[in-house]
Amino acid sequence: MDKDYQAYLEKLLEWGEKVKQKLKDSDLTEEEIKHATEQVEIWQENLSDMMASNQDEDMDRLEDVRMQAEQLVENFRKPQDASSVPYGKHKLPPLPYAYNALEPYISEQIMRLHHQKHHRAYVDGLNKAEKALYIDKKDPIKHWLREQAFHGSGHYLHTIFWYNMTPKSKKKPDGAILRQIEKDFGSWRAFKDMFTKAANSVEGDGWAVLLWTPRSGKLAVQSFEKHQLFQVPDTIPLLVLDVWEHAYYLQHYNDKAAYIDNWWNVVNWDNVNDRFKEASKVKWQLF
Ligand SMILES: [Fe+2]
Repeated sequence: MDKDYQAYLEKLLEWGEKVKQKLKDSDLTEEEIKHATEQVEIWQENLSDMMASNQDEDMDRLEDVRMQAEQLVENFRKPQDASSVPYGKHKLPPLPYAYNALEPYISEQIMRLHHQKHHRAYVDGLNKAEKALYIDKKDPIKHWLREQAFHGSGHYLHTIFWYNMTPKSKKKPDGAILRQIEKDFGSWRAFKDMFTKAANSVEGDGWAVLLWTPRSGKLAVQSFEKHQLFQVPDTIPLLVLDVWEHAYYLQHYNDKAAYIDNWWNVVNWDNVNDRFKEASKVKWQLF
């Protein structure tokens, strides 16, 4: 490895340490500091990987860490009103792990493209639609409403998707979500088979989704077409699987079933449980 390159990476690691120290001294809440520090540590792990690989300059990865660092700093800035995102100001959320962390199940190349290009395009598209609708009041409204539905659903679904995955998957559900799965579907196996079938049934681009339905007090399985079609209102997605071709084609070509089988190995059941806990707080009259 080139000495200057090595020294540069070491400097970046040091910068990460300084950021962590600044976070400790900041006026963010304890929870925000914990979350932000974890993000810096994931970024540092990525850098350490690059140093350990002993490869020459890898401009793609260097560009990744630069963008991630920018995102980190951007995300640490406390918004003026932390309870909302202003119209047209959505941001690409950082991945909660490195781009290569889900290998061999999902390749680094796919994760990088999927997050940086596809998800970013949905964030940009949603911001554009919101500006047109709420700030510039552009016509025709029908067009911008469609844009909001497509890009907004794309942004929110991808955000759930990244956090629904982890390199440290327990491989099967436990806790409250397991109990609810057994109550509603009979067994974990029966649910897994149904969800897999739903994912394979999507025609063209779409998603398989596990929903919590406060109106019935039950879980449900649903497929979405594109991002915004076949949605069931008044429900909360707990677990989502992206089955657009961009999610697997570079690794599995047209073998969607192989991608789906692999994906079960990276499901973050702790995150699904967290979402279920929050979603269960919504209490509607049952009908
Ligand atoms: Fe996607």
